[in-house]
Amino acid sequence: MTTSQTNTAPDIRVFADAATAERFVAEHIAAQMRTKPDSVLGLATGNSMIGVYRQLIELYRGGGVSFAGLTSFNLDEYFGLPANDPSSFASYMRKHLFDLIDADPSRLHLPDGNSPAAAAEYEDLIAKSGGIDLQLLGIGRNGHIGFNEPGSPQSSLTRLVDLTPHTREVNAADFPPGTEVPPQAVTMGIATILASRQIILLATGAAKAEAIAQALEGPMDPACPASFLQGHPDLIIVCDTAAAALLSVSEG
Ligand code: GLP
Repeated sequence: MTTSQTNTAPDIRVFADAATAERFVAEHIAAQMRTKPDSVLGLATGNSMIGVYRQLIELYRGGGVSFAGLTSFNLDEYFGLPANDPSSFASYMRKHLFDLIDADPSRLHLPDGNSPAAAAEYEDLIAKSGGIDLQLLGIGRNGHIGFNEPGSPQSSLTRLVDLTPHTREVNAADFPPGTEVPPQAVTMGIATILASRQIILLATGAAKAEAIAQALEGPMDPACPASFLQGHPDLIIVCDTAAAALLSVSEG
């Protein structure tokens, strides 16, 4: 029986500002790499992660961490964008992390946004790599994780999904003016994410406060996909004070 694990309270860390929260997450990832140099990391995109990756690169340049043994799996990719499109998550990862560290590019994976049929292979590849040791997550303003939008079932695996008009509107800032945000994406599922041995979620800014409160203190419900994280036995939530503002109980 493992049911007792499902009620483990998350480790909630609240920091005064976003930079300090990002630093904590970067240090946590670096510690994971030092403890297990061949770690399998689940990686995320989004504006919240840019500062994390910047601080990780600083740690790498200072000799504090190596990524030579890293295997990684990104959460998601837009459907139909070529990998070299500047707005693809593949381009984001190269620009903000992969091109700036000593990782082996052949072990850095993203879902194939041009081949949703390969989603099952992505699941297989994660399993063959031994599963994800540490999954990095952001959170959408509507409670999405990866691109698991409201309505996503807890049992979902990597698959093609529709993006909500709201998500496309928010993410339009990452695309050149006048360019359409793709209406679909390939994302790891909720079950894929929950299978990770440890999860660290970063939320910064007031726009995330409602989603964080719903995720941690609301019912576990597909209406807020991040609420399914409540069932994970090793969950760390990292917020700045603005993102934690609507939590009834928060810890430093
Ligand atoms: C995206 C990603 C998510 C990310 C979220 C929040 O579009 N698919 O993985 O967590 O939106 O992004 P941001 O950090 O920019 O608010």
